[in-house]
Amino acid sequence: MKLLVTGGAGFIGSNFIHYLMKQRPGWKIVNFDALTYAGNPANLTAADDNPDYRFVKGDISNVDEVEQVFASGFDYAVNFAAESHVDRSLYDPGLFFKTNVVGTQILLEQAKKSGVRRFLHVSTDEVYGSLGSDGYFSEESPLAPSSPYAASKASADLICGAYHKTYGFPVIVTRAGNNYGPYQFPEKLIPFFVTKAIRDESLPLYGDGLNVRDWLYVEDHCDGLLTVLEGGTDGGFYNIGGGNEMTNIEITNRILEILGKPKSLITPVKDRPGHDRRYALDCSKIKMELGWEPRTDFADGLVRTAKWYLANEKWWRDILDGAYLEFYEKHYREEDNNRERL
Ligand code: NAD
Ligand code: DAU
Repeated sequence: MKLLVTGGAGFIGSNFIHYLMKQRPGWKIVNFDALTYAGNPANLTAADDNPDYRFVKGDISNVDEVEQVFASGFDYAVNFAAESHVDRSLYDPGLFFKTNVVGTQILLEQAKKSGVRRFLHVSTDEVYGSLGSDGYFSEESPLAPSSPYAASKASADLICGAYHKTYGFPVIVTRAGNNYGPYQFPEKLIPFFVTKAIRDESLPLYGDGLNVRDWLYVEDHCDGLLTVLEGGTDGGFYNIGGGNEMTNIEITNRILEILGKPKSLITPVKDRPGHDRRYALDCSKIKMELGWEPRTDFADGLVRTAKWYLANEKWWRDILDGAYLEFYEKHYREEDNNRERL
């Protein structure tokens, strides 16, 4: 089996490559990634020695580069490549539409031309917008994205649907909840707070800290993706959730407890604009159709994740010294100084 992974140098993509090497040894994997600030070759040092793995640097929004990579022919393509951070989308929405919308269409077009047997597009529960305290999003829920990031992902989902309806192209879309685990860039809530707490820095909790997310351990997500890739129905949409609804304040308290740090590190700050209140996924479709369920208990997954960051300090300190700080200095430092303390 020959597989193209796009965005495989990021958090979920690199975990997926590691997962495939364990679960499907012998599969030929090409990782096509632009190596933006979020793409880190250090996530894949273990894969570099594998003769079945090859890295190709390239941009999904560049037609020539995408055409060239598809020229070698693939059975499957799995698209992780995206701008993925909601906060960044507030400052630079254009980049999100270029990568996440235009880039996805270019991939679909070239995949179609080259005769890929199945294309899996990795999307998010954020396309559904925000829930109140009750209810769940099913695959039939209307799209109601709030942030530029979510709107770009919703747009890409619609393009995938159109390629299936119009051209009969074999594409499947998955929509997952918030992932956590090893190799997550330390700008997202859990690695951001873990790496800050290790350094005894304050943890900027947005608003009242009561926003709820449905947390999914990254290896469970990878398992769900492989299940859908091999057994899903073309043209289908599948929710992949962890079944772990948790408020941000609850997660923050747990992180502090695991690391033995004081609650005084928590600093409530002004809310994120357009901040969705709650995400929760109805995952009965993937369970009934494909028998898939998440395996990781949130308490265990969080301890495992915190331990990984404790054991891999060089990995995240290298990031903080370079890629992350550049953006932080430009957009957040001044804002942090001006932020009203609640
Ligand atoms: P990430 O930001 O960690 O990684 C994104 C990767 O895409 C990086 O390696 C980056 O270099 C690459 N990339 C960005 N622009 C590119 C371009 N133009 N061409 C080629 N490569 C490019 O993201 P992640 O958290 O691993 O998310 C992966 C996918 O899963 C995204 O599509 C995201 O929307 C989706 N998703 C993420 C989560 C989550 O909780 N992190 C949840 C659900 C869905
Ligand atoms: O739901 C899936 C989505 O989860 C993915 O599609 C996105 O790629 C991924 O980034 C994530 O989006 P969120 O906006 O939910 O994740 P983030 O880690 O940025 O924030 C999680 C929650 O924590 C959210 O309610 C905002 C809050 N938060 C976040 C940060 C970074 C804080 O309170 N303080 C912070 O400093």
